[in-house]
Amino acid sequence: MCGIVGYIGHRDALPILLNGLKRLEYRGYDSAGVAVHDGQNLHVFKKKGKVKDLENELKDKKIKGNIGIGHTRWATHGEPNDVNAHPHVSQNGLFVIIHNGIIENYKQLRNFLKDKGYQFKSETDTEVLVNLIEYMYLESETDAEMAVRLALSEVIGAYAIVVLAINEPEKLIAARKSSPLVIGIGKGEFFLASDATPIVEYTDQVVYLDNNNMAILKEDEFILKNLANERLNPIIQKIEFDLVSIEKNGYDHFMLKEIFEQPVAIQDTMRGRVTSDASMIRLGGITSVLKKILAAKRFVIVGCGTSWHAGLVGEYLLENLARIPVEVEYGSEFRYRNPIINSDDIVIAISQSGETADTLAAVELAKKNNATVLGICNVVGSSIARETDAGVYTHAGPEIGVASTKAFTAQVTVLTMLSLMLSQEKGTLPYSSFKALVNELQQIPDKISKVLEQNDYIKELAYLYKDARNFLYLGRGYLYPVALEGALKLKEISYIHAEGYPAAEMKHGPIALIDENMPVVFLATKDQIYDKVLSNIEEVKSRGGRVIAIVTEGDDTVIRMVDHVIEVPPVSEALAPLVTVVPLQLLAYYAAVLRGNNVDQPRNLAKSVTVE
Ligand code: F6R
Repeated sequence: MCGIVGYIGHRDALPILLNGLKRLEYRGYDSAGVAVHDGQNLHVFKKKGKVKDLENELKDKKIKGNIGIGHTRWATHGEPNDVNAHPHVSQNGLFVIIHNGIIENYKQLRNFLKDKGYQFKSETDTEVLVNLIEYMYLESETDAEMAVRLALSEVIGAYAIVVLAINEPEKLIAARKSSPLVIGIGKGEFFLASDATPIVEYTDQVVYLDNNNMAILKEDEFILKNLANERLNPIIQKIEFDLVSIEKNGYDHFMLKEIFEQPVAIQDTMRGRVTSDASMIRLGGITSVLKKILAAKRFVIVGCGTSWHAGLVGEYLLENLARIPVEVEYGSEFRYRNPIINSDDIVIAISQSGETADTLAAVELAKKNNATVLGICNVVGSSIARETDAGVYTHAGPEIGVASTKAFTAQVTVLTMLSLMLSQEKGTLPYSSFKALVNELQQIPDKISKVLEQNDYIKELAYLYKDARNFLYLGRGYLYPVALEGALKLKEISYIHAEGYPAAEMKHGPIALIDENMPVVFLATKDQIYDKVLSNIEEVKSRGGRVIAIVTEGDDTVIRMVDHVIEVPPVSEALAPLVTVVPLQLLAYYAAVLRGNNVDQPRNLAKSVTVE
């Protein structure tokens, strides 16, 4: 959600900023802008649209300068247009800022500044902040660093900011609260960004800024402080991915690449955690709290969107295999409904980005109530990963496509390992069943590869249904969350309305929607309730609905009942979500491509939702 990039050093800043913005465009893409200081003057350019549009505008301009900031926006306050785009310059031109996050008390601050004679060009909270910094600077007759500190002490909300002061053009000032900010450390140069993707091609040494910390960066100096002006020691970490993992590698879209990466991503998630003889699972990241986990009366899983769906699969897994009561909650609901949280609860936060504001708030609430909080995150060093007591990284590699795919299967893999591991600690599953399931889990990457071989066939199916206006996705048991996930994938990138439902619930309402124009995707692999799902398929067919069924290879019953089948290799029901979700991802992907949509940057969406 909004991309921030900054550079200070000996190179030309502009190409670094534009390159960085392109890499960050998945975080926000309704407008973009840059500000470069050439030693004498500040040059600011901003434009509604993609980074490409900004780049075209800058093509013939000769802007040289070794210090600059850039931003790609996902609108919160004010529509996407040239004026609302960042960077924002203060009224007297003394400060320029880029900002990610939301200033909640911006209206009060705006009124305060208006009384002091400030006028506003944009509708953004960011322009309020940059003017507040300038006001503090002029009023307190102080330096830029102190002005930023004073302004931030008045701010309620979330921010990652980078500020350039016209009177002190040899430095960048950065600060964060609840919105991520990473600083890359080069030789005589620094790179700033809202995540490490634009940094990785220059350096693998980074500092993740903590909440309420400020960095003052000069070409050859890195000063880290907290907002109380105390010096801190920067902790330098190594980025764990390389450039190749954030490029498309010949695929048309990141989403397709990430769908195809799932066999490897799942291998990586299991690596070092499952012994090759399938005899043991060890999740090193949670050993410190294992006693508490085993003593817990219940687990509460929190997440949003796709991560919430993974949490629902987790509920089935943990309850079935480890016999632990589980509740699954949207982060956004949990945080505001005064939930009952006990100190012997285990709260598990699931988040690909590790930055989702609603999930992070749920984590904070759980911690405040003394629960033990675990994280299942993909982005190393992310806020949720750092805020939680312990956790398990998914290790799926960077996910750039806005629609989450490999993160989901990696999250479900972690939840499967966790459930299986706990089943042995608690003695809820015979060792032979445990071993058989672990063995099967190790075969999941190959099974997914087999599903991926049907890519062209699924594309043909997508062609047949791309003009549908509505879709229903139905599944039961472990496959109910997969139905929800299939529907979410379709709606977010193809813009076709889709709903996921537990198949048996259909007769309580949605069945009224069924006619010959309603495609229904059934998850109908062979499991305990296969026969019941067959009845649900009958109910749809007898009302003229058109059915696509995901079935177990060789199923000769469903094939006679429905319009199309997509076969997946046989798999135990506990592991079926990992395999059955893949054709749904491809179906959504191709429907979106065939409708001419921008798959990696769907309208109105952004990766990593760091606002409420
Ligand atoms: C859907 C999607 C979103 C995210 C949700 C949570 O494809 O990507 O629904 O799953 O915004 O994001 P994370 O997992 O980063 O917390």
